[in-house]
Amino acid sequence: MDLKFGDIQETALIPLAIKASETARPNARIKDLKAKEIIDTLGVDVSKFDPFLSHEGVVARTIMYRDELKRRLKEYPDALCINLGCGFDDKFSQVDNGKLIWYDVDLPDQIEVRKKVYEDRDRCTMLPGSALDGEWTKTLPKREMTIVVMEGVLEYFSRDQVKICLNMLCDSFSHGYLLAELHSPFLEKNSKHHDAVKNTNATFGWGTKSGKEYLELEPRMSLVSETSYNEEMKKHTIRGKLFALLAKNLNNRLAVFKW
Ligand SMILES: C[S@@+](CC[C@H](N)C(=O)[O-])C[C@H]1O[C@@H](n2cnc3c(N)ncnc32)[C@H](O)[C@@H]1O
Repeated sequence: MDLKFGDIQETALIPLAIKASETARPNARIKDLKAKEIIDTLGVDVSKFDPFLSHEGVVARTIMYRDELKRRLKEYPDALCINLGCGFDDKFSQVDNGKLIWYDVDLPDQIEVRKKVYEDRDRCTMLPGSALDGEWTKTLPKREMTIVVMEGVLEYFSRDQVKICLNMLCDSFSHGYLLAELHSPFLEKNSKHHDAVKNTNATFGWGTKSGKEYLELEPRMSLVSETSYNEEMKKHTIRGKLFALLAKNLNNRLAVFKW
């Protein structure tokens, strides 16, 4: 693997480091062999990107996204699936049902680095493209339903950028689900207090109290569900349970939108 530490954006290192360290645990709740391979190849200490709360949050969201995707794919087994802002994530192998078509989309420089690690697979293709410009969507095959996954991406966008992205998705695909990670207004103001993001140069963008705030930006969308990561985190550890109690509205949420 021809990959160097500087190839990986700091914010993408957080989920990678966490998935790799969880995979190495004896009772791993999620397994991501690719993340482990990447982190082992880099051979650097990434423990500052793997503090307790972020660790539990990434494990929880990985489980929640996987389960939500599987639910949607039961309804639409041959959906067109897009992991928008995919980074190094490998959801395709968690949910592939032999029928869906999958695109891993990210900015051109990120796709270039991803290609050092992954190869295109049967029905799983890497594509350069931006969440803020729909040009790339014109090359995709048409399916009755499109399922777009945005995990750890919209948190870094301004309100205007979120609007551009939502409008672009509804303009580009006639019917779709969007699985989106949302964060609170508190986090928007406190990037420097986030246990992992404080170790990067990144700052959070527009935070919301409810996914309903997205509907003001794109009236073609409706909100199907919105679930705090606390719901999954509290099942696993006492500290996770305590956090869910004490910081009820602070954790990120998985929101599912439909249009
Ligand atoms: C924190 S990483 C998350 C990666 C992955 N979704 C995960 O959860 O492991 C954020 C990703 O969003 C991508 N990104 C940022 N702006 C983007 C844009 N305008 N369009 C598409 N991807 C973007 C970055 O390149 C990066 O890969």
